[in-house]
Amino acid sequence: MNKKNFTFILSLLLLNLIFRVEVNTATQDSYYIPTNADVDHPPKNILVGSYVGGRSHIKPMLDIAAVLSERGHNVILITSGNYTPASEYPTIKQISFGPAFDVKKIRSVANLMHKEFDFTKFAFMYEMGINTYEDAFVKYKNVAIDQNIDLFFCHAMVNDACLDAGRALNKPVVGFMSYLNAMDLKTYKSDPLFRCNISLENESFLERFKCTIVQPLRMLNIVNYFSNQLNDLRSKMGIEQVFMSPMRLAKNSLVLIDTFFGFELPQTVPPNIQEIGPVLSKHYPPLTPELSDFINGHKRVLYVAFGSRFFTTIENNSKLLQSFIEAINKKIVDGVVWALSQTPEDDFYPTLSLSDGSQVQTSLILNNKHPHIHILKFAPQFAVLNHTNTKLFFSHGGAGSTHESLFTGTPMLVIPLGGDQLGNAQKVELAGMALSVNKFALDVNDIIKHTKSKRKYRAADLIEYILYRNNLDNDSNKELKEWLPASTRMGFIKGNNYDIYGTILGIALGLIGGILWITIKSIKFIAKKISPSPNQKPKRE
Ligand SMILES: *[C@@H]1O[C@H](CO)[C@@H](O)[C@H](O)[C@H]1NC(C)=O
Ligand SMILES: *[C@@H]1O[C@H](CO)[C@@H](O)[C@H](O)[C@H]1NC(C)=O
Ligand SMILES: *[C@@H]1O[C@H](CO)[C@@H](O)[C@H](O)[C@H]1NC(C)=O
Ligand SMILES: *[C@@H]1O[C@H](CO)[C@@H](O)[C@H](O)[C@H]1NC(C)=O
Ligand SMILES: *[C@@H]1O[C@H](CO)[C@@H](O)[C@H](O)[C@H]1NC(C)=O
Repeated sequence: MNKKNFTFILSLLLLNLIFRVEVNTATQDSYYIPTNADVDHPPKNILVGSYVGGRSHIKPMLDIAAVLSERGHNVILITSGNYTPASEYPTIKQISFGPAFDVKKIRSVANLMHKEFDFTKFAFMYEMGINTYEDAFVKYKNVAIDQNIDLFFCHAMVNDACLDAGRALNKPVVGFMSYLNAMDLKTYKSDPLFRCNISLENESFLERFKCTIVQPLRMLNIVNYFSNQLNDLRSKMGIEQVFMSPMRLAKNSLVLIDTFFGFELPQTVPPNIQEIGPVLSKHYPPLTPELSDFINGHKRVLYVAFGSRFFTTIENNSKLLQSFIEAINKKIVDGVVWALSQTPEDDFYPTLSLSDGSQVQTSLILNNKHPHIHILKFAPQFAVLNHTNTKLFFSHGGAGSTHESLFTGTPMLVIPLGGDQLGNAQKVELAGMALSVNKFALDVNDIIKHTKSKRKYRAADLIEYILYRNNLDNDSNKELKEWLPASTRMGFIKGNNYDIYGTILGIALGLIGGILWITIKSIKFIAKKISPSPNQKPKRE
């Protein structure tokens, strides 16, 4: 990012601060009425699985799991590393895959973070999924058998092992995702991952052709390559093969999507795919006394957090830090809180040269010696966003962060780094939360009205439905028949009525052809009648 970009961002900062609209935060009390579900329903054992881990992936799943746990169920989380803020969910047991999954160790990831991100860069995810599949599958399966698990609640990204293990043990599998396009793609939607607009509504024919035919075919080609590798592994391990387990999930099972219409572009979804977002916690960790003092002592705080899984280059880190110092010097903000989870000190240049020529030592700032910059590893994000002094959230645009910011009404400045974040950035922009200040004033109250999140209780209800539905036959766990639209069973052609349309087109073409044929024949016939044929001798009478 160059200086021009930063000037641009700083002017946006200024704009946002000036036009900052105070929005009363809605209370997060929940008003769900306990059902008598526990009357004759014995508690069940639920496995929550996410291979990649990371707070933004796991937290919403745990918020739903916490409701299930309140209702008497026994919940076990399996993920890599230790989910650090475990104190938030004291009722949930945790089993670890081993050391935390370190995104930085994978070379290709490090490269792709700094380039324009599109689906062609997904290869690293598939590679990672394949490399870890066998271990993960065995672990999921063993834990499920040991703990007598009744239901698998799997994050559906890079987690084929969880989806397959549930199926292999003939247990119901419920999927979780924040990216609706991956589960139910509509012809009128696309994504910056395909280098396309999130909405194809106003795109040209060529653009729509690219976004619905060309790019998906290119992606299919990549997916196919990795899917074959994973299937080789599956057949070696005696596991049922499948083209893509998330696709099978979308076709056969309940999938909970952590998004909501208003943020997500509206579309219809089949009954087995349910949007239950934004999932928000009932209790959020409060500000630590230190952080509370810092934010109370500053009136215009910029909060910066790029999520626990993303990081950038030394050059960019240094530029970010420098721009924050300059923003303070220019009195655009008076305080900066930066949650820097993946970034050690050696990811910065040791000294920064400011534009006024002065030098600053990075280590002093990173050790919180600067009076107006507070750096910490893990910030209680919701509490920070909820504070009236926090005027702007500089974010990577992950789903969880975006939802929290929408909920607290904190304007966002989004730098999407990859994945679904590019689409999220466009969505908040369209919702008027970022950049466009006037729209922001109009929309946030509206959005808040729709997002007083009680929807995780719905998610928990849905999961309980799956737990207690009468399993009529041995395969009922593999297919949620009662909720699947018939079109999923009818195949592509019948499901879309293409055979009918084809027949009608055929009949229409036939009729048109027939009419043309008759017309031409008639014209010829009449022409013949009128003009004398050349071999007929002209009659002379
Ligand atoms: C990071 O810095 C590089 C140059 O070193 C630049 O090309 C890139 O756009 C930057 N990326 C982000 C996400 O800031
Ligand atoms: C997407 O389409 C909308 C409406 O046509 C337009 O305003 C917006 O700039 C487009 N975004 C991109 C990234 O092309
Ligand atoms: C496309 O254009 C129509 C008409 O101008 C407008 O109402 C609609 O909001 C646009 N769609 C998007 C996604 O920008
Ligand atoms: C959010 O802010 C409101 C009003 O300032 C306060 O009543 C509420 O307790 C805060 N919630 C959290 C979780 O910090
Ligand atoms: C389910 O499977 C068991 C053993 O595999 C079999 O005995 C039983 O008849 C099956 N039940 C149904 C309804 O198919």
